[in-house]
Amino acid sequence: MTTLATAAVHVTEVLTQAGVMSPAVDARWLVEAATGLDPRAAPAAELTPAAGALLSELVARRRMREPLQLIVGSTAFRTLDVTCQPGVFVPRPETEILAGLAVDAARRAVVVKGSALVLEPCCGTGAVALSIAAEVADAEVHAADISEEAVRLARTNLVRLCADRPAMGERVHILESDLLAGFDPALRGRVDVLVSNPPYLPVRDLEVLPVEVASHDPHAALFGGVDGHELVDALVGAAPSWLAPGGTLLLELDVRRGQDAIDAADRAGLKEVRLVPDLAGAPRFLVASQDARSTGARR
Ligand SMILES: C[S@@+](CC[C@H](N)C(=O)[O-])C[C@H]1O[C@@H](n2cnc3c(N)ncnc32)[C@H](O)[C@@H]1O
Repeated sequence: MTTLATAAVHVTEVLTQAGVMSPAVDARWLVEAATGLDPRAAPAAELTPAAGALLSELVARRRMREPLQLIVGSTAFRTLDVTCQPGVFVPRPETEILAGLAVDAARRAVVVKGSALVLEPCCGTGAVALSIAAEVADAEVHAADISEEAVRLARTNLVRLCADRPAMGERVHILESDLLAGFDPALRGRVDVLVSNPPYLPVRDLEVLPVEVASHDPHAALFGGVDGHELVDALVGAAPSWLAPGGTLLLELDVRRGQDAIDAADRAGLKEVRLVPDLAGAPRFLVASQDARSTGARR
């Protein structure tokens, strides 16, 4: 009889040989996806022939370096379980910090004004926007992506989450848009939090990206123009015309481009410009504020 513990050890060996970065963790997830049981919680449970056949299929996909999240169909993101699917960028753990900064900024706005208006261009699965809406009850969140597939998936994730939180649906709006172009112009000058994880890599990085990223994330989600900074620059430049006085801009960045982002924010007239580190201590997030004495939207 093959137990789940034995199966997990075997899968770990197979994934190690395939060069997978976290073979033991992935093995546990794949065994759980095939059997419905965490092998740590039920190590002596039997791997049935049907579950064994399914596990072999899943392991074959992971050996070919398909991302784990696309194989199991979801990822944990802060308090949420976010559905993932091919063709849409898989949310990363470091972006949970960006979402946390946005949650904190939205909560500060709620304390001061009783509500918070949040914009998230480049929303992908909707993980960031939906986290903010789930964690800040008085936040109104507008999210957008240029990809039709991403918008469809973000809406699917919203509908799923609304099963537990019906009121959330009325506070979240998801649309297809090139950066900020599609947002209601009436929101200009009123936004408390403008948060985004835009594409920010230079095209030359394609040669050094892991297979999971280069072959499975859409390239439009990775590359911000040839030099990588086109979308970051556009968002920083546009931020002053959307942010309310005292509003916060939060962007995820290429850690090699922190100073460029600071310079762009200074040029745009933003205040309190700084970088915040990611889980590895690298300067990953730009934080900047609209002057609290600003008189509102600049066009
Ligand atoms: C790095 S992914 C981030 C997705 C999501 N926010 C996350 O953190 O998981 C960048 C996203 O930007 C979208 N995107 C690329 N160019 C865009 C544009 N010009 N306007 C709006 N969205 C864009 C891509 O489709 C992709 O979903």
